[in-house]
Amino acid sequence: MSTLPSIARVKQLKGKRVLVRAELNVPLTHGKVSDPYRIIQTIPTITFLKRAGAKVIVIAHIGRDPQGTLKPVARYMNRKTAIGFVPELFGPRVDKIIADMKNGSAVLLENLRGTQEEEHNDAVFAKRLASYADIYVDDAFGAAHRAHASIVGIPKYLPAYAGISFADEYANLSKVLDPRHPFAFILGGAKFETKMPLLKKYVDIADAIYVGGALGNTLLKAQGYEVGRSVAEDVRGAKALAEHSRIHLPYDVLVEKRDKTTTVRLVGEIMASDCIIDIGPETAAYWAEELQSAKEILMNGPMGFYERGYSDGTNVLLRGIAKSPARSTIGGGDTVALARSLHMEKRFTFVSTAGGAMLDFLANDTLPGVDAIVKNERR
Ligand code: 3PG
Repeated sequence: MSTLPSIARVKQLKGKRVLVRAELNVPLTHGKVSDPYRIIQTIPTITFLKRAGAKVIVIAHIGRDPQGTLKPVARYMNRKTAIGFVPELFGPRVDKIIADMKNGSAVLLENLRGTQEEEHNDAVFAKRLASYADIYVDDAFGAAHRAHASIVGIPKYLPAYAGISFADEYANLSKVLDPRHPFAFILGGAKFETKMPLLKKYVDIADAIYVGGALGNTLLKAQGYEVGRSVAEDVRGAKALAEHSRIHLPYDVLVEKRDKTTTVRLVGEIMASDCIIDIGPETAAYWAEELQSAKEILMNGPMGFYERGYSDGTNVLLRGIAKSPARSTIGGGDTVALARSLHMEKRFTFVSTAGGAMLDFLANDTLPGVDAIVKNERR
């Protein structure tokens, strides 16, 4: 693996303007941060830079609505470290605030995705942002799979370093690329097509892959099981994966019946009017038991319809991972939120801030954001 140049090793930051791309894409409920995990993880980079006397300009995105604002995030951040909020990205007011910044202070600018330029990796946009600073730091590993302006555009114009959280994510997830064995991989959630390359790669690496969520439904369907009204896709190549000896599918599931009541069924007994909403209790207990003999465990994505509160299957597996002596890594917003709601996050070797970025990293061994730092020519 490439070595990532970390900002933590850079001396003489006093008076330097440092542009930090942070991962602040957190869930908001009624305008308030409902899970601050990502914010908390980026605080060490910001406080390190402030203590070193840098002028810290933080940029980030929130959600997918261009109207989305980082104001609630700034409010939360201020509980951890003082940071001003500027509700704009560009303009005379931003220029003045940055020009007047004192050593050791920090500001957060408004949502990068207010316009299309960020996602289109617009060069003018990237250059304008780069003009705010002397040094660029990427602390947004969770967004490093996006070839966006703030990830791959800005480092074309500035010396680029990894932030503390970014470097930590990279170091820990790199270990999973060279796993201990037996290696158990638990994969849930949806979007089968995007996860298929990962499954194809890991059937040769993992000793067992446990598949739940909509992903599991898709494989059950490919095997010819009735899945009723469940979320499932028709994907070519799914059948071969479903029948692979290292892929484990649920053998009982929790379903919602037509009358909206729930019941547990064996997979061969699912009815056309049923909707699978979680793995069943027998499957969850059996998989959790199997995990006890693993030396490496990786989990990404819930086993059930998390948004509607069906989290029993995921919780049983999380408890199983926590109990096992294996090196363990969990990721994905929903999975991490559940682990945190069980107050168990300290019982895993590593809790990633990344969801999709983690999966892309495991599939490709790198990410656009990683390459942008490794290959930076301005440093
Ligand atoms: C994430 O939450 O996975 C990252 O912040 C990227 O967000 P996106 O999927 O909206 O690009």
